[in-house]
Amino acid sequence: MPANVFENRRVAITGASSGIGRALASQFAQRRARLLLNARRADRLVELAEQLRAEAADLQIVGGDITDPETRAAMLESARTHWDGLDILVNNAGIGALGPFAQAGSERMRQVFETNVFAPIELIRVFLPTLRQSPHARIVNVCSVLGHRGVPGKSEYCASKFAMHGFSDALRAELQREGIRVLLVSPSTTESEFFGAVVDGATLAHREGKGAMSAAAVARATLRAIERNKHEVILSLGGKCLVWFDRLLPTLADWAVARFGQTPSRRGGP
Ligand SMILES: NC(=O)c1ccc[n+]([C@@H]2O[C@H](COP(=O)([O-])OP(=O)(O)OC[C@H]3O[C@@H](n4cnc5c(N)ncnc54)[C@H](OP(=O)(O)O)[C@@H]3O)[C@@H](O)[C@H]2O)c1
Repeated sequence: MPANVFENRRVAITGASSGIGRALASQFAQRRARLLLNARRADRLVELAEQLRAEAADLQIVGGDITDPETRAAMLESARTHWDGLDILVNNAGIGALGPFAQAGSERMRQVFETNVFAPIELIRVFLPTLRQSPHARIVNVCSVLGHRGVPGKSEYCASKFAMHGFSDALRAELQREGIRVLLVSPSTTESEFFGAVVDGATLAHREGKGAMSAAAVARATLRAIERNKHEVILSLGGKCLVWFDRLLPTLADWAVARFGQTPSRRGGP
């Protein structure tokens, strides 16, 4: 049986109250990691902690909005106080937005960027000195296949995920010599509460997306990618096809996306 590389690892996960973050928490707990969980719905985290406490090597909760600098500082404080540091930082918390760019005000772009871009980047800034003390340091950014190919009706979301994609590539190169690995996880449509929480998504009935992956499958692939020291993982056959179609035939991809691209009233996948 292979060694459990996650045993006692100190892992912080944002957006752990549902979906992919919750599944990640559960799988890291099964591997007996120490967990620091964040989300705004602290009651959900308490409930999750009760379920996972028997398996996890330790479990701490920092409820709060990750866009708030005080929440980020509280996470660092918790990791330092309880574990004297951190090994793996998982930036998973994220929100979507739907609707044509021209119909939105600047607030929608700002809201999406605050949660999906500025908050994870600032959390990395906060944790970097302590990650530098760990011989096992990893930064995991949960992105999207829409951080590789833009589609209509989701300009703010795509822009935010492209930003995290570019940032992760740059940071990986900067930190490579220090041995801090940066993993970009790009799920395709995944079963979660994501579709019920999109900005301006009131017209969108909650839907889980046809052919959606389970959050557990995304979490499994993420842990596997960390174990294998991968720098990127693109999930689902459909997601891989979209990314490679765009890389190999960009002009045709542009045409196809404009011609057949999803509109918010018809489809909800991120
Ligand atoms: N579902 C998909 O199809 C899909 C596909 C590709 C990529 N992704 C990405 O996967 C990640 C996880 O999404 P999911 O599908 O698991 O959706 P989800 O079920 O809605 O989970 C999102 C998590 O983020 C938390 N969150 C949102 N805003 C936050 C904030 N300001 N501060 C702290 N926590 C916050 C939410 O918790 P609270 O509401 O309790 O704060 C929740 O735990 C996101 O980055 C998303 O962009 C999802």
